[in-house]
Amino acid sequence: MRDYLDLLKTADKDAIRASRAETAIRLAQPKKGFLRFREPYQALRHLHAQFTDFSQEAVTIGRPAELGEADRRLVHEAMRAFMPWRKGPFKVFGVEIEAEWQSWRKWNRLLPALPDLAGKIVADIGCNNGYYMFRMLPQKPRCVIGLEPFLQHYYCFKTLRRMAGADELFIELMGVEDIPLFPSCFEVVFLLGIIYHRISPVEMLREIRAAMQPGGILLIESQAIPGAAPVALFPEERYAKVPGTYFVPTASCLRNWLLRTGFTEVEIFCSHPMSSEEQRKTDWMTFESYEDFLDQNNPALTVEGYPAPLRVFLKAVNPGAVGQK
Ligand SMILES: C[S@@+](CC[C@H](N)C(=O)[O-])C[C@H]1O[C@@H](n2cnc3c(N)ncnc32)[C@H](O)[C@@H]1O
Repeated sequence: MRDYLDLLKTADKDAIRASRAETAIRLAQPKKGFLRFREPYQALRHLHAQFTDFSQEAVTIGRPAELGEADRRLVHEAMRAFMPWRKGPFKVFGVEIEAEWQSWRKWNRLLPALPDLAGKIVADIGCNNGYYMFRMLPQKPRCVIGLEPFLQHYYCFKTLRRMAGADELFIELMGVEDIPLFPSCFEVVFLLGIIYHRISPVEMLREIRAAMQPGGILLIESQAIPGAAPVALFPEERYAKVPGTYFVPTASCLRNWLLRTGFTEVEIFCSHPMSSEEQRKTDWMTFESYEDFLDQNNPALTVEGYPAPLRVFLKAVNPGAVGQK
């Protein structure tokens, strides 16, 4: 498998390699918290799917008939070890994984605004288990690099990717705070479901723009509050029960953040209310989900009494180097 770093002329390769080496040493430790995800990853190393399909709602890796009974049980066990599954669905050698989110709905909303990904160098920041990265593959990107700091998602993606033989997909155990290691690298960046978790969203957008090639396209999706005014809600403690949510903007506020960080051609191309059809408890994610986050007597409000979230989608262009508008 080729290293995508060979394709990135401007990346800080020494720092990225040093970070990888540090991560490898850390993850090699026999700690319970690492082993619970490393072991299922290792248990499936002999499995390589003959059939894949990334063009349907469920990302499909392998058909049931490709495996014997023992391996099918092994796949089921390993997939259960990666619970809770937030993004999906997936079908893995016939194991049907119904994730909390029906992520194909978000993908379908992105499609009308999606640039041609053919031959492009793409980043998916906060890629989770890589659902959207797999969905990008039919468009033949040159490579897609996912940044994901959580071990559960990192190993889950690596397990799926190896079975799928998807050589164009890569992951780094990194967060958006590592994006300065990739100056002027990406032609397309996906930033889905991330910005309201950042304590400095504007600073993050500036850093992301610096990681994009001139003419590069950012696709951003966010929770949002309703309203036309360019304002953001800043919850006292939690928003929809989530303590790690900071600024929840209106669509026009997010548009202004993008403009003020030097993006151009900013377009709001979709806005929709959230629903418990799209995000719900399943056998593969057994904790609370969307309907538990709302006021039971008034679904227009969160349990904290804030406006219930919309989801908004924006597209923006990096016109050139940061510092030049
Ligand atoms: C709300 S989920 C969104 C996942 C996916 N992008 C989507 O839209 O369905 C947030 C993701 O960001 C990841 N994450 C957490 N901290 C992060 C960080 N500092 N940088 C990048 N991603 C982070 C989480 O592990 C999770 O996978």
